[in-house]
Amino acid sequence: MNAVTKKIILSGMRPTGRLHLGHLAGALNNWVRFQDEYECFFMIADWHALMSEYEKPSDIRKNSLEIVKDWVSCGIDADRSVIFVQSMVPEHLELAMVFSVLTPLGWLERCTTYKEQLREIKGRMLATYGFLGYPVLQAADIALYNADMVPVGVDQLPHLELAREIIRRFHGLYKSRIFTEPEPMLSKTSRLIGLDNRKMSKSYGNFISLSDSRETVRKKVHSMYTDPKRTRADVPGRVKGNPVFIYHDLFNPDTDEVEDLKKRYRAGKVGDVEVKEKLTTALNNFLDPIRRKRAALSEEDAQRIIKEGAGRAREAAGRTMAKVKKCLHQI
Ligand code: TRP
Repeated sequence: MNAVTKKIILSGMRPTGRLHLGHLAGALNNWVRFQDEYECFFMIADWHALMSEYEKPSDIRKNSLEIVKDWVSCGIDADRSVIFVQSMVPEHLELAMVFSVLTPLGWLERCTTYKEQLREIKGRMLATYGFLGYPVLQAADIALYNADMVPVGVDQLPHLELAREIIRRFHGLYKSRIFTEPEPMLSKTSRLIGLDNRKMSKSYGNFISLSDSRETVRKKVHSMYTDPKRTRADVPGRVKGNPVFIYHDLFNPDTDEVEDLKKRYRAGKVGDVEVKEKLTTALNNFLDPIRRKRAALSEEDAQRIIKEGAGRAREAAGRTMAKVKKCLHQI
């Protein structure tokens, strides 16, 4: 397939911390594969991060560069895909502004993710004009590159639907069809469970980072939740839904070892320590190549990648903005 006929994919992550295994299992592994088939734009959504972190924005820049390193060490290829930082492409704010004038307030106020976050996120003042407009900026992110598909988790579906509605409203108002209506692309893998059996999340501190050391991984694995009814090694245990075995299934390539552990676990013939030690080894083997790639990437490498990425992104974004301005009789 040549570049002209390739479909376009855009996705993004907010730089609010280091990436963890959940990001890899739920998103990054797929992104790496998409690169063979699609023209990919991978964006670090630092303006979106600012919307929730504006009271303490000091880590956003640092996190952005760390995420670039995480992406590249997991196999995102800066030559084939465009890796860029949202704030380095000013067209995002320009188009978001245009979209904001035609987005009815009710659409935003009714947005379920918005209502949920206002309710759930404590200790931060999120009842702001900017945060209400979160999906407007996201719609601009997607529309600027005429993305055909947007790989996201289910939590983002309301934003995708809003993006489609905003685009349709633009087309209707200006009798033009300059944008592509994006389709969501849901990941087939379900969310990775956290170390403590709750959902894996930065705020719960129950994750393994892609940049954790071997020893940290060991400590974290040994703190993992298992079958709570199993008080001793000779008590038969439950394998199904047990985080230690979910991780073994995902990250331990030695399926014979995993089957043997499961059998002995069910029969009460293996201790948690052995199961966890083997998982530590499997996870560290899995993470080692990622760690090696990461160690070879300097701060300057990351800077260079986002600078080049911004140049390539601006070419596409600039073309779209020129069409938008034409529609609005501004040029
Ligand atoms: N809102 C997304 C999230 O929190 C991040 C994001 C911003 C995004 N802009 C995007 C995702 C555009 C896909 C497309 O995960």
